[in-house]
Amino acid sequence: MEIIIKNNYSEISIEASGIVANQIKSKPNTVLGLATGSTPLGLYKELIRLHINEGLDFSKVISFNLDEYIGLSKDHPQSYNYFMYHNFFKKVNIPANNIHIPNGISVKQLEYCEQYESLIKNSGGIDLQILGIGRDGHIAFNEPSSSLSSRTRIKTLTQKTIKDNSRFFKNISDVPRFAITMGVGTIMEAKKIILLASGSSKAEPIAQSVEGPITSMHSASAIQLHPNTTIVVDRQASKELKEKKYYNWVYKNKNVIYNQSYN
Ligand code: PGA
Repeated sequence: MEIIIKNNYSEISIEASGIVANQIKSKPNTVLGLATGSTPLGLYKELIRLHINEGLDFSKVISFNLDEYIGLSKDHPQSYNYFMYHNFFKKVNIPANNIHIPNGISVKQLEYCEQYESLIKNSGGIDLQILGIGRDGHIAFNEPSSSLSSRTRIKTLTQKTIKDNSRFFKNISDVPRFAITMGVGTIMEAKKIILLASGSSKAEPIAQSVEGPITSMHSASAIQLHPNTTIVVDRQASKELKEKKYYNWVYKNKNVIYNQSYN
């Protein structure tokens, strides 16, 4: 794992956007795995800026979102379909047919989850997966006790997640109790992962996931088993990491090692 510690939210958004932009430039038909929530908003803003000012081209990009609430239609303002359209898709040139977001009101949910998995597979698999992390250590909606080899399925949200996400709803009782989510196993098949976290409320889940034991009680800890993960956190979110100094040292030396050839 590569752990990059930046000063603040703006810096993590810029760092992550550089990784995504380089991926798209080196493979224009990149398959991106996308996340919702407050954390990736700055990254999306920066990608939109790169599209408008520097011509970053999304015309061949294919995307798969991690999750969606069960029971919310695509045009519900709190649905993740609505979030993605208004915060990202309508501002870049990704073709509508290339966008995949789970449908929260599908009737045959089990078949739908299997189809979603097949769509990912048939697209060649996810090249770069963007992740946030919940206060309970979840990635996507893989709440504590989610199998680390789970696939796309329906999950029941924890009270903690419902409370956290109630800030977007009028009443806490309006927050859906169920979601359709990619599984931990689905996420782990991405060729590269970037996990973003900002703020002191993420310090404990970040420390648990990076330096704690691998456990289904913190689904983000599964990334320790992933061969190509970059974790980009701000100072607040890094404050419980014990090996902070070493991670900063590695980051500082990265350019030195890349610029040398060893024969
Ligand atoms: P947040 O959510 O980015 O709004 O903090 C992250 C998550 O729950 O995965």
